[in-house]
Amino acid sequence: PSVKQPYRTGFHFQPPKNWMNDPNGPMIYKGIYHLFYQWNPKGAVWGNIVWAHSTSTDLINWVPHSPAIFPSEPFDINGCWSGSVTILPNGKPVILYTGIDPKNQQVQNIAEPKDLNDPYLKEWKKSTLNPLMAPDAVNGINASSFRDPTTAWLGHDKKWRVIIGSKIHRRGLAITYTSKDFLKWEKSPEPLHYDDGSGMWECPDFFPVTRVGSNGVETSSFGGPNEVLKHVLKISLDDTKHDYYTIGTYDRVGDKFVPDHGFTMDSTALRYDYGKYYASKTFYDSANNRRVLWGWTNESSSVQDDVEKGWSGIQTIPRKIWLDRLGRQLIQWPVREVQRLRTKQVNLRNKVLKSGSRLEVYGVTAAQADVDVLFKVRDLEKADVIDPSWTDPQLICSKMNTSVKSGLGPFGLMALASKNLEEYTSVYFRIFKARQYSKKHVVVMCSDQSRSSLNEDNDKTTYGAFVNINPHQPLSLRALIDHSVVESFGGKGRACITSRVYPKLAIGKSTHLFAFNYGSQDVDVLSLSAWSMKSAQLS
Ligand code: FRU
Repeated sequence: PSVKQPYRTGFHFQPPKNWMNDPNGPMIYKGIYHLFYQWNPKGAVWGNIVWAHSTSTDLINWVPHSPAIFPSEPFDINGCWSGSVTILPNGKPVILYTGIDPKNQQVQNIAEPKDLNDPYLKEWKKSTLNPLMAPDAVNGINASSFRDPTTAWLGHDKKWRVIIGSKIHRRGLAITYTSKDFLKWEKSPEPLHYDDGSGMWECPDFFPVTRVGSNGVETSSFGGPNEVLKHVLKISLDDTKHDYYTIGTYDRVGDKFVPDHGFTMDSTALRYDYGKYYASKTFYDSANNRRVLWGWTNESSSVQDDVEKGWSGIQTIPRKIWLDRLGRQLIQWPVREVQRLRTKQVNLRNKVLKSGSRLEVYGVTAAQADVDVLFKVRDLEKADVIDPSWTDPQLICSKMNTSVKSGLGPFGLMALASKNLEEYTSVYFRIFKARQYSKKHVVVMCSDQSRSSLNEDNDKTTYGAFVNINPHQPLSLRALIDHSVVESFGGKGRACITSRVYPKLAIGKSTHLFAFNYGSQDVDVLSLSAWSMKSAQLS
């Protein structure tokens, strides 16, 4: 970030310039993390897509390399679109990606490293057998809806499986292909899963999670002795631009995913992130025995602003992801390596946030910070009763913005705030009673961008999520604040909301950070820790 470029990030991944979208083929190979991503070498809008490439030893500091895959052959001459890496049993990583052919058909190709002794795997060669999977008159696949191969996994019969995102009319589906040798692929008669009416499924992801603990599970694993695995299917819905996931069982013989509680992609569905977040992808980090999630966050500014600043798109901080103890949802937490950027620390303990008050957090670089707060409400009886028709948390948050007082809440943080609050992005909770006289409560987490900038040209949609926690316990809120992004984790990673904002006044040293409580009841801040964040090496 600089005076001329106040919105560039200090520690969220972004290329030196131009357009970026999906993360591609994340992996670890010989102790080095690789991130490829969809990139336009020619400008700040989508187009001319190649696989740009960066490597890292800690998922936070990155060294850029030249693009790993770029249009060069008939099977990808009009673009090298999203895909994934599979580490073969002999340790060799291979890429499956979508190529756009001369007829603008989507086909699946393979590429492998030219030199396995180069730890950076800078150069990749494409197989002469490409394309390995193509739409044709026989298989009935729609040539403009056939893309984004996942990491492949080995089945019970020692055959590889991979899924490809697709649609037939309004039915979204994950088409399965199988192969013995990773080169000859055969389309399965039945998809792994589908949903009528949802439209195109982009960037599917399918992986096992363990029922116990937070360790990651290798994508092809069947689980250890006595270990019960669940499977997660994630899809990126082109129609809504959200990433939805569901937890279920993988029927290995039928090659079917069976969700525990259905898979409806509406306002009640599970999402990795209830803000701006798309085309995400996980990988198994064998060095640290964890599963790590990458996701793309687009701009909320106008195309004209993107062209003027010369770039568009960031990646969120990689998140460790695991199954909640009850098996109902995933938990996400920024990889611990990001904490190495923490420098000057400020701690507050046992402060009372009186009804209608704010508490400024002094002493950290508020434009580039990590904040972790624990709130506690005193009397849950004071919560208002939720309107039973309010089933969409985003709607609750947009109807009741930061200035609307309720029994319990809003209380939370005001990030990227100007001194006199002409601008701020607030991330906060409200607690409701599920019904009158009920002892059950509903916790809503909101990210309100409506006052984030004096510039009216931005998308300032308010975001919201339910947080599945017991409000008798302290409520935790962590925010990674980075100039034009506020990435928030509620309830220790049970609900995440990422927002993009472009303040005019609250930039650089003129940025402030507050805790606030505009609800009718006092709220306790059990603890608040904030850190100035060093800048990561990004380019
Ligand atoms: C998702 C997506 C993918 C496609 C890629 C093209 O954002 O549309 O479906 O492969 O981006 O850049």
